[in-house]
Amino acid sequence: MTPDEFRRFGHTLIDWIADYHTRVEAMPVRSPAAPGEVRARLPPTAPAEPEALTGVLRDVDEVILRGLTHWQHPSFFGYFPSSTSPASVLGDFLSSGLGVLGVSWQSSPALTELEEVVCDWTRQMFGLPDSFRGVIQDTASTSTLVALLCARERSSGYSLASGGLQAGERPLVVYMSEHGHSSIEKAALLAGFGRDNLRTIPVDARHAMRADALDDAIRGDLARGALPCAVVATTGTTTTTALDPIDDIAQVARRHGVWLHVDAAMAGAAMALPECRWMWRGVEAADSVVVNAHKWLGAAFDCSLYYVRDPEHLIRVMSTNPSYLQSSVDEQVTNLRDWGIPLGRRFRALKLWFLLRGEGVSGIQRRLRRDMENARWLAEQVLSRPRWRVLAPVVLQTVCVRHEPPGLDADALDRHTLAWAERLNRSGEVYVTPAKLDGRWMVRLAIGSYPTERAQVEALWEAMQRAAESMPGDAEHPRPDRPAV
Ligand SMILES: Cc1ncc(COP(=O)(O)O)c(C=O)c1O
Repeated sequence: MTPDEFRRFGHTLIDWIADYHTRVEAMPVRSPAAPGEVRARLPPTAPAEPEALTGVLRDVDEVILRGLTHWQHPSFFGYFPSSTSPASVLGDFLSSGLGVLGVSWQSSPALTELEEVVCDWTRQMFGLPDSFRGVIQDTASTSTLVALLCARERSSGYSLASGGLQAGERPLVVYMSEHGHSSIEKAALLAGFGRDNLRTIPVDARHAMRADALDDAIRGDLARGALPCAVVATTGTTTTTALDPIDDIAQVARRHGVWLHVDAAMAGAAMALPECRWMWRGVEAADSVVVNAHKWLGAAFDCSLYYVRDPEHLIRVMSTNPSYLQSSVDEQVTNLRDWGIPLGRRFRALKLWFLLRGEGVSGIQRRLRRDMENARWLAEQVLSRPRWRVLAPVVLQTVCVRHEPPGLDADALDRHTLAWAERLNRSGEVYVTPAKLDGRWMVRLAIGSYPTERAQVEALWEAMQRAAESMPGDAEHPRPDRPAV
């Protein structure tokens, strides 16, 4: 491709993306594609000869689009939002266009230094103290894995430099709430703690970790000779956006010398709002914190902000120093390869920089407040209508609901819930996620897609009532083992 062809096709592609954002509202939110459908429409081998990219774009329209569930659709209420601001898309595009890698400071000084700057801007925006330093990881899953590796090495006295975990006499234990994200469990297993040494701590009526139960669990482990190592507390759990009491948990962690990692993957964005910072009161005592800028904040995936209180420890655990990566300025600079697992690093800071400059802190705050206001409005509507329930406190932008017609036992109610959620999703009008809470199905409505305004939330509420209140009698409900979502 010549530079001129790149320019021409690049303009076409930007136009296509801009048009996509205006056209997307008319498309079904959930992909109607059947399993294997997209693959079947693609050739089994790569083209031997070059093709015109206009043909590729035609296939995007004809084959790929149908196979997309549209996360940037204004009526996307599934999972958690991955709100992608147009400014951050351009920053991401620029990153690929430049094609630079940060394997060391010298390999692209601006990549490292801009990352340091935007991590510090966001640290201030979230009200974290200046004792924290940040770095961008790909996902919260990786950030939490890094946190648990650092916790393991602190508790084991840097066992990686000798016999590793296998040489330890006392098993190291990790604690999480029973509502903690699956990525915590995965990180603990991958970091070698073993399932037998992962404790799930019970929650209170608001689905938040009980600090007293954590303390009991730690004391129990000490009594049997194990070594409590790390607790992962969550600000904004995935099922209900519950808020673990960071302050109380930090006190327990400090008392027992346990690493405290705060998973604020979703809710961390809200800390840009001073009125929300009570939600993670005590966070300054954490050893590490993760906030996904690629969820609600508006940065294009992937962009996970990982903050630590002791970068020297992180570097000691993560550093490698082969001769081919050394430079004469290493003493004066940051080498971000020592701040995480991969060696190569994309210029991710650009998309965050574009977002922060394109919207300003005030623009981001306006959007977050809009979404929280819309969630409160929706919760009020649900609460005011007979037979509808809001099942968890609405502290952020997620509303957990159930429609409870009379005369249904618990299993029939589950089938009813899954059936109306599936009916909604199949309609293509909106997209929602059913999930289990206290062993029973409910429907999560996660507001916060970039273009979602009150009009779409009103339409969602209309659609929910239509779908749930006109369901057939229980005998006609399908009996799925798993939700058809
Ligand atoms: C609370 C919480 N933690 C962690 C994750 C995992 O995020 P990621 O996909 O960045 O690994 C999620 C994903 O939704 C989450 O809700």
